[in-house]
Amino acid sequence: MSGAKSYYVTTPIYYVNDKPHIGHAYTTLACDVLARFKRLDGFDVKFLTGTDEHGQKVEKTAIGLGMTPHDLAAMNSANFLDLAKRLNCSNDDFIRTTEARHLDACRHLWNTLLESGNIYLGAYEGWYSVRDEIFLTEDELVSHPDGKKFTQAGAPVEWVKEASYFFHLSAWQDRLLAFYEENPNFIAPTSRRNEVISFVKGGLQDLSISRTSFRWGVPVPGDDAHVMYVWLDALTNYLTATGYPETNDHWPADLHMVGKDILRFHAVYWPAFLMAANLPLPKRVFAHGWWTNEGQKISKSLGNVIDPLHLIETYGLDQVRFFLLREMPFGNDGDYNHRAMMGRMNSELANDYGNLVQRILSMVAKNCEGKVPGHATPTVEDRGMLDAAHGALPKVRDALDRQMYHEALETIWEVIRAANAYVDHQAPWALRKKDPLRMESVLWVLAETVRNVALLTQAFMPDSSARILDQLSIPETQRTLAYCGSHDALKPGTELPPPQGVFPRFVEEKVTP
Ligand code: ME8
Ligand code: MG
Repeated sequence: MSGAKSYYVTTPIYYVNDKPHIGHAYTTLACDVLARFKRLDGFDVKFLTGTDEHGQKVEKTAIGLGMTPHDLAAMNSANFLDLAKRLNCSNDDFIRTTEARHLDACRHLWNTLLESGNIYLGAYEGWYSVRDEIFLTEDELVSHPDGKKFTQAGAPVEWVKEASYFFHLSAWQDRLLAFYEENPNFIAPTSRRNEVISFVKGGLQDLSISRTSFRWGVPVPGDDAHVMYVWLDALTNYLTATGYPETNDHWPADLHMVGKDILRFHAVYWPAFLMAANLPLPKRVFAHGWWTNEGQKISKSLGNVIDPLHLIETYGLDQVRFFLLREMPFGNDGDYNHRAMMGRMNSELANDYGNLVQRILSMVAKNCEGKVPGHATPTVEDRGMLDAAHGALPKVRDALDRQMYHEALETIWEVIRAANAYVDHQAPWALRKKDPLRMESVLWVLAETVRNVALLTQAFMPDSSARILDQLSIPETQRTLAYCGSHDALKPGTELPPPQGVFPRFVEEKVTP
């Protein structure tokens, strides 16, 4: 891969206070689709995910469960690792913030910030939300009638008063604003970018970056009474995985994918830390939207947490991968519900895509001796179909470069729908006796269309797409996106294995969602 363009994509590292749910699966899948697409498109990809194991929230949860934070972290980190595997994620690394390599990176970054004059010792007095591991100002809180205070999202806050090291964040306000201005694509979507800019324009206070009231964290170098603020520790993971400080493999990241809840940390604090340490900044932070379950906020207390493993068992892995990225425009909030899941699965996968493949391949098996048929010079209709199939790649690539997954899928489905319309119109079954040569041409155009579609759906649905490409006898070495297009079209006479269905219909009776 030497000489290939580099692409580094990261998920947030997830808290180990609990096991994963659909929201975590969503972010990780979105990154996996990009990582797979970029690899297929010739990039040298690094895809990182992992777990955020320190901090008060994890310590407090462990105490509540009668466990050590170390054991709770090990247990739930294993659950997140398992989820990545069950989702068929192609991550190149899985980082745990309790690993030695990460403690080294944290200490090194701390010392760099200290030496560059960006850290000073003081005392923090103010509000803290353990659930979000965030310091809040009075005007960010909501007061309930009983006098208790909460964050906008409803997390309880507590008053903290302790010795603390501070990062001189206020000094970076103007440079951050200039950076956003010069790099309009740094924060996406635009509405979120505007929120960040107005937050920074509103004035930045220095940030407390150490705690003394609990022990579960990275000790501050030279001052053991303090552990590092978990967000400084957590954000550093993106550098740790590059081999920092010894090496900088793939840095800067091309994309930090995050949920909208943690954009401030990635788009304000993190670039400020990096500038202060004189390190290159990531190219982009995308803050995606929020899933609800049947219209309700997903929460443990409501008991409506969706287990992604249960979804995979119920609907199938590729069906879940497809649904999550297809259902809501990326960036928006969306609702998970059984009817929507079943609808996408049956109409777009089973009917549109699955039926198309099945119809074509069984006609080829029956009428063309199980070999790729020959073809005559394309008619105007054939040309239109082939051009649509061969021309989809640049549009899909462009949509994915903007993280517009739904748009990429819509582009692919336009080709699939056009192919279904072409089959109906050409009616190859009616040509079998009348004009067998024309029937062969039509089937060849369709099979070649399916080849291109399956190359493009690989990043979204790797297993199902591979099964379609197998049925077209496409060698493993000819499945990169360089093979999209007319130059590598199907060779007439190639033997094909017997066809098999790929996208089953969802049958309601069998299910207890
Ligand atoms: O915040 N809908 O970890 P976390 C969509 N450790 N996405 C959701 C979601 C939902 N309902 N719920 C969670 C942390 N997510 C920190 C991150 S990074 C240096 C440290 C996803 O376990 C979404 O990506 O609370 C969100 O940002 C992330 O999980 C929060 O995971
Ligand atoms: Mg959270």
